[in-house]
Amino acid sequence: MHLLMIGEVVHQSEDNKTSSSPHLSAMGVTVRFGPVVALDDFTVEIPRGIIGLLGPNGAGKSTFIKASLGLVSLDKGRISVSGLDSQLQYLQIRDDIGYMPEHDCLIPNMSSVELVSYMGKISGMSSKDAIQRTHEVLDFVGIGEERYRLIKSYSTGMKQRIKLAQAVIHDPSLLFLDEPTSGMDPNGREEMLDLIKKIGASEKTVIVSSHILQEVELVCEYAVIISNGKLVRQGKMEVLMAGEEDLQKLTVRGGEQAMTRFIDALAQVCEIMDRKEEGWNQIAFTVRGCSDGKRVFKLAHENGVQIRRFHPDKLSLEDVFLSSFKGGGAGGN
Ligand SMILES: Nc1ncnc2c1ncn2[C@@H]1O[C@H](COP(=O)(O)OP(=O)(O)OP(=O)(O)O)[C@@H](O)[C@H]1O
Ligand SMILES: [Mg+2]
Repeated sequence: MHLLMIGEVVHQSEDNKTSSSPHLSAMGVTVRFGPVVALDDFTVEIPRGIIGLLGPNGAGKSTFIKASLGLVSLDKGRISVSGLDSQLQYLQIRDDIGYMPEHDCLIPNMSSVELVSYMGKISGMSSKDAIQRTHEVLDFVGIGEERYRLIKSYSTGMKQRIKLAQAVIHDPSLLFLDEPTSGMDPNGREEMLDLIKKIGASEKTVIVSSHILQEVELVCEYAVIISNGKLVRQGKMEVLMAGEEDLQKLTVRGGEQAMTRFIDALAQVCEIMDRKEEGWNQIAFTVRGCSDGKRVFKLAHENGVQIRRFHPDKLSLEDVFLSSFKGGGAGGN
């Protein structure tokens, strides 16, 4: 048991990231709630790192998290967490897992010191260690003197921080954060994302379920997209968001005649896929095959126009998410 600040634990914990085996995998998992099929022959291999778990409401994200913790039983299939079976070895699995549930899970008539240290003791720590570690994790999540007040007096943002603190009290190597920024204001959100990044940098696997794609884009290295209980897409963020190969966005400013000359010259060296007038003598192009930046800048200079922006065409996670529901299959890496 490490009795150190989360950031310091980084160098002390076992080197999880050197292992190439998936931290979590599901094979043909089906979970039913009466007539509802929450997970439908769901198969996925989740690597180590900060992972975004995405999908529309009712997709099966929370069910997958609960099934991995052994909190709901599987009708079919198998989930393996660090090589352990979620149905048979859930007690061992829980020793090394932290869980921040989507809904309120806090005991209102306890202070956060009492609650978090209680959770530490439940996970096997001595009272002394649990108290010491509690103060460290409460410092880490940014709870000050309020830690001695009853939780029922806390704001939503403070409750989210306590939910995170109780999830990391026992220094688990795998964390499930179900909608961690839910109900938080923009500053609180940013701080929560920073905390997630810090935890991820400490060689832990953090699985973050969120509806807010921009947040996932900011913190996650890998995304898993679920819909109707099935995997629709998974892959490294940079691969998912790379967009179509060899497309570039180019924004150019210049007078009418110079622009016409430049467009003629540009069309000789690459394919102009799309152009959009942006006013003020400015045009935004999507071009293919213009990765030779020097050549494009030379053409601009020769024809008397100015390049305002020039970069590879990159998708947003929202584009990836939406395209996943237009017939995109599972895949990517
Ligand atoms: N305990 C339960 N009893 C009955 N149905 C359930 C139960 N838990 C989940 N479901 C159903 O299973 C499906 C998947 O739910 P789940 O909560 O896993 O989705 P989710 O992706 O987490 O959604 P959200 O984004 O709204 O949190 C939904 O149709 C939901 O209504
Ligand atoms: Mg959910």
